[in-house]
Amino acid sequence: MTLAGGLTRQDVERAQEDPVVFAEVMIGDPLFAHQVEVVRSEARYRVICAGRRAGKSHLYAVLALHRAFSRSGSRVLIVSAGETAAKRLFAEVASMAKRPLLGGSAVDETTSTLVLSNGSRVECVPASQKAVRSAEADLLIVDEAGWVGQDVWEAAEPIIAARPGSRVLLASTPWEPVPGHFFRQMWRSGMDAPTQWLESWHWPSSVSPLFDAAWLQWKKETSSPDYYQREYLAEWTESGGSYFPAQELMAAVADYRQLPPDEARGALAVAGVDWGFRRDANALVLVSALDDGDLNLARFPDEPVFYIPFLEEAFHKPYADFIERVVEVGDPTPHWGQGQQGYTLRWLLAEENGVGEPAVQQLRQRARARWGRSTGIRGVWTTNRLKANGYGALRLLIQQGRMVLPRHPELLKQLHALTTEMLPGGGMRIAVPDNVGHDDLADALMQAMASVRTNPIGRWTDRSESLGEVVSTTGGVLLRNRPVPLWRPEAFTAPRAGDASDDW
Ligand SMILES: Nc1ncnc2c1ncn2[C@@H]1O[C@H](COP(=O)(O)OP(=O)(O)OP(=O)(O)O)[C@@H](O)[C@H]1O
Ligand SMILES: [Mg+2]
Repeated sequence: MTLAGGLTRQDVERAQEDPVVFAEVMIGDPLFAHQVEVVRSEARYRVICAGRRAGKSHLYAVLALHRAFSRSGSRVLIVSAGETAAKRLFAEVASMAKRPLLGGSAVDETTSTLVLSNGSRVECVPASQKAVRSAEADLLIVDEAGWVGQDVWEAAEPIIAARPGSRVLLASTPWEPVPGHFFRQMWRSGMDAPTQWLESWHWPSSVSPLFDAAWLQWKKETSSPDYYQREYLAEWTESGGSYFPAQELMAAVADYRQLPPDEARGALAVAGVDWGFRRDANALVLVSALDDGDLNLARFPDEPVFYIPFLEEAFHKPYADFIERVVEVGDPTPHWGQGQQGYTLRWLLAEENGVGEPAVQQLRQRARARWGRSTGIRGVWTTNRLKANGYGALRLLIQQGRMVLPRHPELLKQLHALTTEMLPGGGMRIAVPDNVGHDDLADALMQAMASVRTNPIGRWTDRSESLGEVVSTTGGVLLRNRPVPLWRPEAFTAPRAGDASDDW
């Protein structure tokens, strides 16, 4: 008998048994050889240390959908490091599920859940103890596992144990947030001594047949050597010279929800904008004082804790569109549907170097039109002084335990890629290699930090409006997982920016 799309019943049966056939017949994209190896492995835990663009997401989607379509009532849980990554991955899975031969499935965007007519579910969640604690899964996939907290992994393990025959796939670019972190340990062990329980693979970016040697060469030329080695060769590096050591950064990370601009209700923030002219992304990063409901009062009686309430990266977007978006995010006048307001941006710093100048001018014009002012907008030159101020403030707050960072691998990688340079006099400064791309998020954060006051200003939280359960950074800062900014204009100061003559 022939079914829809010219399939025979036999084809469908083979596809149900074998993900390799499933990919070929039902999805229409055969797996690549390196992906087949992983799919065919019998090991209960499969661990991949991979470079960028090696084909991880594609593999997750195939495995997830295969499990869901071939066995009714299956549960697949895909855990990502951070909210943004979870949403992106869900979009990839949902789009693959639309392939004509796969038949009916319902997509719930708000919960990032795909429900099939056979009762199977595929769910994409950001890493958090809460998300995994109550979950059950026949297949657990952890993306960018190096960025997932050890505590979350420990909370996730019982859900696997509870389901006989369940399988786990972990993949990540190399990253070790704490010594002995589960991802590095399991990967190493599966490489050295694979067993029926655990097997590992090493996928440099070049493992993909779509690999473009010229592209990789360009990445090599425009990345710091350390970043390149980790991101594309998928090799572990021990970078001693980083301005932000990985473990210091990770100690400041917490699993909290960003506050989208359409729910910001005029919340106070400062912002940095990095234009993506020469590189690939425009970036906007907001910094606010954190409404911690005085959870950290004993530790910081006189100082607010800061955090990033919202950040956005826009790839391949004309800068006029990105300007519109920035103006929308920072629009404090009621306009969002039912009179909601965006953020109030006390200061907004935007890169003015070279091609940035017309963009900043246009940003001012648009702000005057929509906000009725452009006074807080500053065009800045990315000089060593500005970097010293912005990154210096960030580093100080991180070291004091007064900065909370989102679990956002790309931001953390970019910060970690900044190296230090010894000055002849014995001082130290942040190295600013001109050729290094991929620092759009770090740059935008640095600009916002240049208007943050790091000294004690008192804290007085009168009534906390942050919601959700209390979470913690590994450094011990407490916050609710749906935090909101504090209204403390004194926490910010006119940006300590440099102008063109400021370069030292
Ligand atoms: N088996 C396949 N057949 C066809 N295209 C594939 C296959 N595997 C991966 N690709 C394509 O290769 C590109 C990179 O794959 P994918 O996005 O899965 O990689 P990744 O490792 O998740 O990348 P990133 O580092 O950006 O997260 C994508 O355009 C994807 O569609
Ligand atoms: Mg991916």
